[in-house]
Amino acid sequence: MLTIEKLSAGYGKVQVLHGISIDVPRGKVVTLIGSNGAGKTTTMRAVSGMIAPTGGTITLNGKRIDGLEPYHVAKLGLAHSPEGRRVFATMSVTDNLTLGAFPRLTGSRPRGDVPGDLERALELFPRLKERRTQLAGTLSGGEQQMLAMARAVMLNPEVVLLDEPSMGLAPILVDEVFRIIERLKSQGVTMLLVEQFAAAALAVADYAYVLENGHISVHGPADRLRNDPAVRAAYLGGGH
Ligand SMILES: Nc1ncnc2c1ncn2[C@@H]1O[C@H](COP(=O)(O)OP(=O)(O)OP(=O)(O)O)[C@@H](O)[C@H]1O
Ligand SMILES: [Mg+2]
Repeated sequence: MLTIEKLSAGYGKVQVLHGISIDVPRGKVVTLIGSNGAGKTTTMRAVSGMIAPTGGTITLNGKRIDGLEPYHVAKLGLAHSPEGRRVFATMSVTDNLTLGAFPRLTGSRPRGDVPGDLERALELFPRLKERRTQLAGTLSGGEQQMLAMARAVMLNPEVVLLDEPSMGLAPILVDEVFRIIERLKSQGVTMLLVEQFAAAALAVADYAYVLENGHISVHGPADRLRNDPAVRAAYLGGGH
């Protein structure tokens, strides 16, 4: 579904990713774990077109997407819930969600049932439902985080990139985010997940890659990596 091959990318003269390869098969959840600054967000940005790769290829459903503009990548069915709460502050919750479906409304993605999906998104995130008319900029940080995730789902995407969906959330809401990821997975949504809670990410994922300084150091089935002593020592030390 999503195939990243020998991807290199960075910022100006600084190369961050040094030829990484990641495969995200249809209907699977793949997680990318790694320390702060390893290049996880940079990987997501290169895939969604926010930065242009300097090498390698990215294919979605067999189509090359590397170097395309973000809007074009979204039209091809890739949704990105970016790191940090990137919502449209002066628009309501409902309008933010509708905007997530924009390529469907303009006919560049299959339209499907946008109002129905809006209702379903609000059912999935009850906190947003209660605040549907509120301006997104006045939501709490955690609520904005959920809105970014819900907005990505509104594309009715082929693949969703989730960059730290639980960042800044209280423990009870972190659990809620992982329940939502489980729910999306059971609906067959394909996901590439980056999470600070590596143990929880490995529990929900089918397959995992470890990124170290812009290189993939280890990859394998998520349950195998969960029991790998080196991975445990480096990333699962917090007892999560
Ligand atoms: N806009 C930017 N301009 C220049 N350098 C950047 C930019 N964004 C990130 N970097 C650098 O690229 C490297 C990788 O950053 P990236 O955000 O991809 O890490 P990450 O794995 O997502 O880390 P974290 O777990 O902290 O989110 C870091 O050294 C960072 O300082
Ligand atoms: Mg990051």
